[in-house]
Amino acid sequence: MNPVPMYDFPREYAINRESYLALFDTVCRTGQFSDGQFSHAFERDFAAYTGAPFAASVSNGTGALVLSLRALGIGPGDEVIVPSATFTATPGAVLMCGAKPVFADIEPDTWQISVADAEKRINKKTKAVIGVHLYGGMFDVEAMRRLCDAHGLPFIEDTAQAVGSEWKGRKAGTFGKTGCFSFYPTKNLGAFGEAGCVISGDESLIARINALKAHDSRDGSFRELGYNMRMDGLQGAVLSFKLKQLDAFTERKNAIASLYRESVKGSGRLVCQYAPPHVRHSYHLFVLKTDDRERFIAAMTEKGIGTGVQYRTPCHRQKVFTDAVGETSLPVTEELMENCVSVPTYPYLTDEEVAFVAEQLKRYAR
Ligand SMILES: Cc1ncc(COP(=O)(O)O)c(C=O)c1O
Repeated sequence: MNPVPMYDFPREYAINRESYLALFDTVCRTGQFSDGQFSHAFERDFAAYTGAPFAASVSNGTGALVLSLRALGIGPGDEVIVPSATFTATPGAVLMCGAKPVFADIEPDTWQISVADAEKRINKKTKAVIGVHLYGGMFDVEAMRRLCDAHGLPFIEDTAQAVGSEWKGRKAGTFGKTGCFSFYPTKNLGAFGEAGCVISGDESLIARINALKAHDSRDGSFRELGYNMRMDGLQGAVLSFKLKQLDAFTERKNAIASLYRESVKGSGRLVCQYAPPHVRHSYHLFVLKTDDRERFIAAMTEKGIGTGVQYRTPCHRQKVFTDAVGETSLPVTEELMENCVSVPTYPYLTDEEVAFVAEQLKRYAR
C-alpha cells in the first residue's frame, strides 16, 4: 500500500485540471480579480447553498470573524465568550478587535462548547458568544440561542470547520447573528489559497461587513478604520465550481467516517467524537481520542498513514492569550487536547485506501 497522507491536493487537481484551467482563463480574460463578478457570484451561490438570506465574501475565516465582531460594534472593554478547543483565530479575532476573549470549556462527548459553562462566564461586560462547530460536528445551537436570547446577547457561529454540517436539516452558520466560514485549502470547501465568507439574516450587518472589508471606502471618503479583506475573483470562481461537488464529498466523508467508527466500536483505546442523530457531521476532521497519542501516531506512521493533531495546546494555555487574559482551568478541553489525533478522510481516497486505514484502526483498537 502506498502512503495515505492527510491530504493530496495534486490528486484532486489532476482529476479536475481542465475545468480549473478553463476557470482561470475566464477570470483572467475578464480582469475581475478582486471582489468582482466571480466573488459576487459565489456569494449568491453560497447563500443559496446554506439557505442564508445574505452573504459577504471575504479574504479568509479570520477576517470573517474580525469583521463580524467589528460590525456588531465589539471593541475595547468588551468580553466575548469563546471555546478554547479551537484554532487560535477564534479567540485571536476577539483580541484583534481590542476585546477580551473569555474561555469556556467543552462537553465531554461532543467536544463542543458547553453552553452551561459559557453561561457561568456571562457578566456585564459580555457582549457576544462565539460557538465553534469543532471538526465538522455542531455545538448545541438551540441551547445557545436560548442562553443568548435570555441575556440579550448575539452569538456568532465559527463555521470554519463546518461547511455543509446540519442541525435538524438546517445548515450550520444560519443560526447565529453571523456564520463565519474559512475556505483554507484543507477545509471541505477549499480554495486555491485563502478565502472566507460571512452569512447572515441581517442585511445591514452584511452591508457593514462589506464596507469594513474594503477600508470603509465610500466615494473616496474613509470614515472608519477598515481592512483589505476582500475575496480574490479566482477564489470565487474555484469555490463556485467546487460548491457543486460539496454534498457528494460530504456524503463520501460520512461513509468513510462510518467505516472508521465501526472499526473502533467498543474500544477503550480509541474514542470517537459523539454527534447526536439530528446532526449531520461534515467530517472536516475525523478525530479520535487515544489512550496514548504518540504510540498511536507511531503505529500509523509505520503503516504510511498520515495523522494530524488539532490541537496540541489549547488556546487558553497559549502565551498570546495567557499574556492578554491570564490563566484559566478547563479540564475537559485539556484532556481532549492531550489525546486527540486525526486520520485521513479526504474524499478522493480510494476504497482500498479507506479499507486499509480502517483495518489499521481496528488493529490498534484491539
Ligand atoms: C475554527 C476555526 N476558526 C477560524 C479559522 C480561521 O480561518 P482562516 O485560516 O481561513 O483565516 C480556522 C482555520 O483553520 C478554524 O479552524
